[in-house]
Amino acid sequence: VVIKPSMRRSVRILLVGDRGVGKTSLILSLVSEEFPEDVPSKAEEITIPADVTPEQVPTHIVDYSGINQINESLCEEIQRAHVICVVYSVDDMDTLDRVTTRWLPFIRECAMDGRCPIILVGNKVDLVDYSTIDAVYAIMEDFPEVESCIECSAKTLKNISEMFYYAQKAVLHPTLPLYVIDQQD
Ligand code: GTP
Repeated sequence: VVIKPSMRRSVRILLVGDRGVGKTSLILSLVSEEFPEDVPSKAEEITIPADVTPEQVPTHIVDYSGINQINESLCEEIQRAHVICVVYSVDDMDTLDRVTTRWLPFIRECAMDGRCPIILVGNKVDLVDYSTIDAVYAIMEDFPEVESCIECSAKTLKNISEMFYYAQKAVLHPTLPLYVIDQQD
């Protein structure tokens, strides 16, 4: 028997990833619809009212800063999140490597047995003329908690609203069952 999650009344999205991949810029670009030239190290928690979100659900967006946030508080944020966007920069393959060597294992560890859907976000597509999606599909085979992936640019705003829509959708319409109850006995 597959139990569908009851409709959530809010969605909490957390962005994590290596330093400098553009997490704060993505959030500020979404909110202001323009690329911020000066970004703080961490955006304040933002709440987007239901009526301006595609799924009509109030959405909280939480930034993570590699500079002054320790692992312990990051773990707490991971446990509070309904969906996590793991951000890398398409122009820096080290940041993509760290998706599999650090971020996805760390999220598994913190989330313990609770499964949290993940969106892989390749930012800064304005800087390159190739795609990293093939490498990402390979990652998705090893980490089924990754619901979907998207390449975008905080600078040109390409796929920014799509990215947050995917995140909302992963919470409200997950493709994998969150709980499977075995009814054999
Ligand atoms: P930490 O707070 O250190 O974890 O970094 P962050 O992931 O929040 O990155 P931040 O938003 O501070 O951006 C880092 C740098 O990348 C800044 O100089 C941004 O202007 C730049 N940047 C962010 N997004 C893009 C993008 O889509 N394209 C380009 N060309 N530059 C970007």
